[in-house]
Amino acid sequence: MKPFAFNLRTRIVFGRGSLTRLGVEAARLGDRCLLVTGRSFARRSGYLKTVVEMLEEAGLKAVVFDNVEPNPSTETVYKGAEEGLKNACNLVVALGGGSAMDAAKGIAFLLKSKTRLEENFAPKEVAEALPIVAVPTTCGTGSEVTKYAVLTSVWRKRKEVLIGDPLTPSLAIADANLLNSLSKELTAYTGFDAFSHALEAYLSKESTPFSDFFALEAARIILGNIVEAAKGVAEARENMLYASMLAGVAINCAGTVAVHGMGYYLTNYHGVHHGLANGVLLPHVLRFELDRGLDRLEDAAVKLGFGKGISLVEKIEEAAQRTGVPRSLLKLGVKPSELDAMVVDALSYGRNLDKHPNPLTPGDIKKIYVRAFGE
Ligand SMILES: [Fe+2]
Repeated sequence: MKPFAFNLRTRIVFGRGSLTRLGVEAARLGDRCLLVTGRSFARRSGYLKTVVEMLEEAGLKAVVFDNVEPNPSTETVYKGAEEGLKNACNLVVALGGGSAMDAAKGIAFLLKSKTRLEENFAPKEVAEALPIVAVPTTCGTGSEVTKYAVLTSVWRKRKEVLIGDPLTPSLAIADANLLNSLSKELTAYTGFDAFSHALEAYLSKESTPFSDFFALEAARIILGNIVEAAKGVAEARENMLYASMLAGVAINCAGTVAVHGMGYYLTNYHGVHHGLANGVLLPHVLRFELDRGLDRLEDAAVKLGFGKGISLVEKIEEAAQRTGVPRSLLKLGVKPSELDAMVVDALSYGRNLDKHPNPLTPGDIKKIYVRAFGE
């Protein structure tokens, strides 16, 4: 059996209504918190007010930084850290989706290490950060249990990653009630991000028996719930929240592969939602791998009860179709004239491609993108 090391430092408090535990739980980790969130959902939904009240009732001082944009930039992280420094915060609480959580991680790192983000991106590992509390409001990224913070360098049009165990939240409050007003589209897109995490972690060269356990269970639950979750069925959404967390544990061990590496271009150059980018590309990458007979994909299909790889891929395509995820890159506003630039960009994400189960040449990546432009 492949050797592995595993630790999960996150205390997970899961369940409807678990948000009420936030104050008491967070008070164990600090007393002056920076509450990091996006620009509208938390305020509009009333959750921002609720969370501030909960923290204050538990004796914490809460300073709000509600300026996180989708695909958070390094600039935003620096601004958040300034706010935290000014208020002598000793804890960072994230309320939101992957963007808020990843920005919070970057801020927690800066507040502790007093250095620059640019000097610490992967493959370096960061050694310190303030304690982080994550309260996810989408069911996709799994960032509430991962050691990754994906940040955007706007001027370089690149996704950079901070990585390190100290970035793993100390506490995750996973309360499916917070998903009630999530749109159909965002439920589908973040769900496809989670599904990509699960399957990519399973296919990754760095997968282990332990990460496989989380990856397969996540994949099974997501395939069984994503369509209903997108329709708004509350129980299916709660299942997706659980599964996206499992998938987060899987990528914490095994990372992601070519689907993520090839999808970043779509987000950086066309503003395509990260999960949508993965949802569109995933079947094309999988079909390419089916053609060259990837045993690991066949194996996943068998373990998930589909018998053959092609049946698993068809099931994924059906879920995409039923949740409004298109098959073609043309639907995302990307043009075939960008093909060569896309290949160069994808190749620059060695941290993903190096883990891909079979080596991908520039020609292979081009072939996959060409297919993804079809239909
Ligand atoms: Fe992702």
